[in-house]
Amino acid sequence: MKVELLIFCFVFLFTAAPLIGAAAAARRDLEVKRHLRRLNKPSLKSIKSPDGDVIDCVHMSHQPAFDHPHLKNHTIQMRPSYHPEGLFGQTEKVSKNEIGPKPITQMWHMNGRCPEGTIPVRRTRKSDIFRASSIKKYGKKNKKSLPRPPTSAAPEPDLINQNGHQHAIAYVEGDQYYGAKATINVWDPKIQQPNEFSLSQLWILGGSFASDLNSIEAGWQVSPDLYGDNNTRLFTYWTSDAYQATGCYNLLCSGFIQISNEIAMGASIFPISSYHSSQYDISILIWKDPKEGNWWMQFGNDYVLGYWPAFLFSYLSDSASMIEWGGEVVNSESDGEHTTTQMGSGHFPDEGFGKASYIRNIQVVDESNNLRAPKDIDVFTEQSSCYDVRLGKNGEWGNFFYYGGPGRNPNCQ
Ligand SMILES: *[C@@H]1O[C@H](CO)[C@@H](O)[C@H](O)[C@H]1NC(C)=O
Ligand SMILES: *[C@@H]1O[C@H](CO)[C@@H](O)[C@H](O)[C@H]1NC(C)=O
Repeated sequence: MKVELLIFCFVFLFTAAPLIGAAAAARRDLEVKRHLRRLNKPSLKSIKSPDGDVIDCVHMSHQPAFDHPHLKNHTIQMRPSYHPEGLFGQTEKVSKNEIGPKPITQMWHMNGRCPEGTIPVRRTRKSDIFRASSIKKYGKKNKKSLPRPPTSAAPEPDLINQNGHQHAIAYVEGDQYYGAKATINVWDPKIQQPNEFSLSQLWILGGSFASDLNSIEAGWQVSPDLYGDNNTRLFTYWTSDAYQATGCYNLLCSGFIQISNEIAMGASIFPISSYHSSQYDISILIWKDPKEGNWWMQFGNDYVLGYWPAFLFSYLSDSASMIEWGGEVVNSESDGEHTTTQMGSGHFPDEGFGKASYIRNIQVVDESNNLRAPKDIDVFTEQSSCYDVRLGKNGEWGNFFYYGGPGRNPNCQ
């Protein structure tokens, strides 16, 4: 009897196991298809970008945001009720810096534009989702990828080492902030491992780093895992619970409401700066509409992209308590040494303009909703021999800093 049972078990294992495997694969395939249907809304027009992306022009009222239960009856705000720079385009001259960096566009613009009333959405492919560790995790940050704790609290070196994220940033804290602005030099840092990334951004932060951090983030990133290539892409990110359940990159979950038909989240930025040659930068402004409470984002001088509705956040439903600007990389130490993944241009701040990456004209929105120079700017880096940061100030660039580095080098092993 026992032997028979054993034989039965063996037979069952050898015949059914592949079937069970096939069934699981089929189920996963179905789940991926369902998720793709959620993300890729029906489009009026599609544009093939030279970098291989497909940009879908999706009717504004069909965008992913409206899958959110709280947004079912939402009336889209077609413009903010307030802008910290006054009337659009009037306070800031587009040609303020004629001999300086040139304006920038996105690569897909070479092959077309999205009509009025639609928004451009980077199409998610099956392969994008398969690169994530699970369908749920696609478009989210790794739960462990907390930014550094605020320096006013006791730093927790364990946390920093454990998740391998390294920063070179400038920051302000201790006030109430209603937004921030910066102009960020655009580069294409080399990434050693596909699970690593390099980004340059600003952070609008509220709450505590441990559990319920509220964060709105925007800038450029190179992330082979998220996008399947090494292109430099415009990105946004938000979370209201310290990167746990809420939030995502770009439009990969419901939350951000886009109104612009010109700029696609997650699309490649073009052109990119080159060493000792042409320099390009992007301006990002994020501010809180004092009337509606929504957090708005503007790209460059001309593109108001859309907003994060106030209800998404707890702490940020009032104001931010900290603003950070700078670079972040993942150091996975896959070969037992420090990663060679670069931050910024891959060169240290002391090389200066045209060689090191900069973030200039950093500003905050104060309690009277005016843009002003931040007070008491501090800097932070975990390992200045790998990635460093250096502050400066002058008439044209206001408060600025150079940041970044090559990662592994004789002083950073
Ligand atoms: C949306 O509006 C309808 C009709 O006014 C109402 O019945 C429903 O409860 C509303 N839903 C939400 C989520 O507010
Ligand atoms: C990204 O760049 C790395 C080298 O920096 C290279 O090994 C890798 O193949 C590139 N990935 C893609 C998808 O092009």
